[in-house]
Amino acid sequence: MEYLERIDERDRIDGTPHMRRLRQITPEVGKFLALLAASAPSGEYIEIGTSAGYSTLWLAVACREVGRRITTFEVLEEKARIARETFSEADVWDVVELVVGDARQCLRNYDEISFCFLDAEKDHYIDCYNAVVPKLVTGGLLVADNAISHRSVLERFLDRALGDTSVDAVIVPIGRGELVCRKC
Ligand SMILES: C[S@@+](CC[C@H](N)C(=O)[O-])C[C@H]1O[C@@H](n2cnc3c(N)ncnc32)[C@H](O)[C@@H]1O
Repeated sequence: MEYLERIDERDRIDGTPHMRRLRQITPEVGKFLALLAASAPSGEYIEIGTSAGYSTLWLAVACREVGRRITTFEVLEEKARIARETFSEADVWDVVELVVGDARQCLRNYDEISFCFLDAEKDHYIDCYNAVVPKLVTGGLLVADNAISHRSVLERFLDRALGDTSVDAVIVPIGRGELVCRKC
């Protein structure tokens, strides 16, 4: 984790192009995600947007704790290659499955979702939300990153989630802002 934190920090200041950057969550958000995931009801755990697998490692910690597995989706083969290295190095393949592809298509095959972390391209958020929330079990959680840092770009998505009567939703001001939705 510390190795990936150093690369992400360097990416943010050395002009690495957007699509090559790791664009990770902060360690504090990692702890927050692990805490929420460990408290989620039983069902499928998914993550949309793996990058190098940093947030997945935090979720893997929770999965180990409660005896679950997480499926993480990454659309770029180059990022998936780095994530495979991360998961091998951290020895978490027993609790992690990596699916290479656009989650918007892959999600059709998943039901009874109890936890979802959404951290993909911002213009995919609404489609992912619409694909996941109807499949959330009661008490299931969807957490979306960048709810404060990208508030204006995500305005339509945030209006949709915060006005959705099928979930209780709140924006938590840690990291880049985490939208947390719990299925009623
Ligand atoms: C912000 S980074 C994820 C960072 C990661 N969650 C972390 O904190 O370590 C976003 C990643 O999502 C991937 N991505 C974007 N849209 C996607 C989609 N529709 N399905 C799967 N992966 C997607 C990008 O290629 C990129 O690697």
